[in-house]
Amino acid sequence: MENLKKPFVFLCAGMSLDGKLSNYKKECSAISSDNDRKMLYDYRVIADAVMIGGNTLQLDDSGLTTKSVERQNKRVKLGKSSEPMKVSVISDANNLKTSGDFFNKGNGKRVIFTTKKTLQKKIDEIKKKAKVFILGDNWVDLKKALEILYELGVKKLMVEGGGTLIYELLKDDLIDEINLKIGDLIIGGKNTVTLCDGEGFDKLNVKKVKFVKITKKPNFLILKAKIIKN
Ligand SMILES: NC(=O)c1ccc[n+]([C@@H]2O[C@H](COP(=O)([O-])OP(=O)(O)OC[C@H]3O[C@@H](n4cnc5c(N)ncnc54)[C@H](OP(=O)(O)O)[C@@H]3O)[C@@H](O)[C@H]2O)c1
Repeated sequence: MENLKKPFVFLCAGMSLDGKLSNYKKECSAISSDNDRKMLYDYRVIADAVMIGGNTLQLDDSGLTTKSVERQNKRVKLGKSSEPMKVSVISDANNLKTSGDFFNKGNGKRVIFTTKKTLQKKIDEIKKKAKVFILGDNWVDLKKALEILYELGVKKLMVEGGGTLIYELLKDDLIDEINLKIGDLIIGGKNTVTLCDGEGFDKLNVKKVKFVKITKKPNFLILKAKIIKN
């Protein structure tokens, strides 16, 4: 871990007061509309790349852009490309459609990390729109993925979710900072995606954070925290 050359990894997500990232129908719009995702788009300005899990790619199919020319200009002033690279992790990409916004909207470069479960024919199709890396038989080695991103010039990686990808990254101690917009709503649902899903951590492996800042707005809280590394 000490020698791992990886980007600075920061999470940016919107969640309900009860920690949900979407509702039981997996509608992300249940948390916030396109109009009030300003914080998300602003954070995309400072990111070299934005990473999402395979379910988020397929369910939300976002173009992962900064959504405005002003933000694009800010990026260029910072010496970055006008839009961040888009990255997704998906173990089995055989049903992944390459006709949507992730693959076609905006001019951010695209990277897919997948496994040997994805057939060569599908890899060839995805390769027409993205760089593809096969990193494992059944599950992607995320440390390796982050090393590759670092080699591709990604020094700041923004992770947007969902709950499975966030758990996988936290498990491997790969997240450095958490930025959350906490909405004034409770969504419920025992099977609803939360900020951190997966199998969960036992007492010895629980992840600790240091709260850095909380900002109170009329309808939401903004929270910044650093992950305390063991
Ligand atoms: N509110 C927000 O800010 C926000 C942000 C992002 C997403 N969301 C919501 O989150 C929900 C999706 O969350 P989710 O937890 O179901 O899914 P997810 O984390 O987006 O994606 C999970 C999938 O990613 C792949 N994956 C993750 N880690 C992997 C690894 N190490 N190796 C290989 N594959 C890996 C797997 O793909 P396979 O299925 O191929 O195995 C896994 O099933 C959506 O409803 C979305 O709207 C909300």
